[in-house]
Amino acid sequence: MIHMYPSVEDLLFHLRNNYDVMLLVIAVFSITITYLLSTPRRRIHIRNGESDAAAPGGSGSRDIPGRLGVPFIGETFSFLKATNSTKGCYDFVRLRRSWYGKCFKTRIFGKIHVFVPSPEAAKQIFTNDFVDFNKGYVKSMADAVGEKSLLCVPHDSHKRIRRLLADPFSMPSLSKFVQKFDQILTQKLKKLHESGETFSVLQFSMKMIFDAMCNMLMSITEDSFLRTLEKDCTAVSDAMLSFPLMIPGTRYYKGIKARQRLMAIFKKMIADRRCGKETHDDFLQSMLQRDSYPSSEKLDDSELMDNLLTLIIAGQTTTAAAMMWSVKYLDENTQAQATLREEQISIAKHKQDGAPLTLEDLNKMSYGLKVVKETLRMSNVLLWFPRVVLNDCVIDGFQIHKGWHVNIDATCMHFDPALYKDPMQFEPSRFDEMRKPYSFIPFGSGPRTCLGMNMAKLTLLVFLHRLTSGYRWTIQDHDPSLEKKAHIPRLRSGCPITLEALNDGK
Ligand code: HEM
Repeated sequence: MIHMYPSVEDLLFHLRNNYDVMLLVIAVFSITITYLLSTPRRRIHIRNGESDAAAPGGSGSRDIPGRLGVPFIGETFSFLKATNSTKGCYDFVRLRRSWYGKCFKTRIFGKIHVFVPSPEAAKQIFTNDFVDFNKGYVKSMADAVGEKSLLCVPHDSHKRIRRLLADPFSMPSLSKFVQKFDQILTQKLKKLHESGETFSVLQFSMKMIFDAMCNMLMSITEDSFLRTLEKDCTAVSDAMLSFPLMIPGTRYYKGIKARQRLMAIFKKMIADRRCGKETHDDFLQSMLQRDSYPSSEKLDDSELMDNLLTLIIAGQTTTAAAMMWSVKYLDENTQAQATLREEQISIAKHKQDGAPLTLEDLNKMSYGLKVVKETLRMSNVLLWFPRVVLNDCVIDGFQIHKGWHVNIDATCMHFDPALYKDPMQFEPSRFDEMRKPYSFIPFGSGPRTCLGMNMAKLTLLVFLHRLTSGYRWTIQDHDPSLEKKAHIPRLRSGCPITLEALNDGK
């Protein structure tokens, strides 16, 4: 996924691309100075590079604890180390929180980052998005997904583009998507079961989601074409947060080339539809039907093409990772798995053999929805949501300065024992109760709330239904290690499973 989340995430891509070189440079120029000047547990309060340990913050606010280290370098080295480990990059945050408390500041690649983990801070930032906070502009991101992407456009265009894109992602519009996804999934699971082979849930989900999205957006169904597109979309996604240097062999170069190929394909597709050579009942057609509307009520071609790409990239990795984690968590809580299976089998029993799931069926999956929510709470597909601070402000009582980066730390909130009892337990029934506002934010909130939220929830429900009402599974590799250098937490193994058909399922 892109997710399109600049700031700290871009560093992850940078280091994925240039890890060795950066490590060397950082080691040579800074390690000695950094470690001489500071120790991990010493709290040095530096603002804009100057020590201000004694300086009180404005408006009764406090200076935020944390270590900035020497200018530019800061704690980049530690961040790289955490990211390159199988514990995942969040370990960097976890460790600092144990030293400094819930809110802390750090400096990575020259930028000051503050981690804020409270529902109050989340509310303040989300409700003032575009006013006091904004996503940082990342050149490589705009070059890769396009300047007209929802992720890159300024406020006014964002409002219009989002409004025009939103309808196909509303619940009623997703009914056809659900049926198609269900049909393909059912066939694929059957085949995998019959073959008896072990398969990676992650790889399986990545392919399923990609194919289903391309079908919904552009009615593309031909497998070899889909694989070509997927390869190019992955290259674009990898380039989004890389160094923007057009040198052959680099991720950026490969991504830009892949983008050019994708744009040529989209362009031809649009032309074929306009001249009547092809017509389909899909997202692209619904957008082209607005051709005669005033400009405020339609997307121009570059907006359309950039956002087709954005939707695919934003939807695939996120949803696939959540699917993988749901299998893992349900495997660990057999009671929750049994309760889910019971609900899903009772829904299957009321349907005719082979009939696809409808939105009505999905609405009946009350326990299923709790499993989806609990999976999203624990998996934290997007660990934190970064914003650049546009005006000096106070968050959670701490003075925050213009130009700093604040990261809404969803992961910390989702594991906060004050908000979730026994937070490390996978317990779907905790969602029987209403949660405190802004304490459950897997899809963000405010004007940038995930556009594909409904689609992701429905996809997960269909997946859980087919899996639990039709099969039991055995995980073949229980290694808890995470993928290295990844910005979305995913098991390194991809969660390989084998399937066994249930006699009492349909
Ligand atoms: C489990 C799956 C998913 C998760 C956890 C997720 C999470 C998120 C989050 C947290 C944001 C907001 C980030 C921020 O505020 O900085 C976001 C934005 C976005 N998501 Fe998702 N997402 C998922 C699936 C999808 C899908 C399936 C699609 C598209 C089909 C999608 C499209 C988008 C888009 C376009 C945005 C940008 C919205 C904007 O800036 O206005 N996402 N997602």
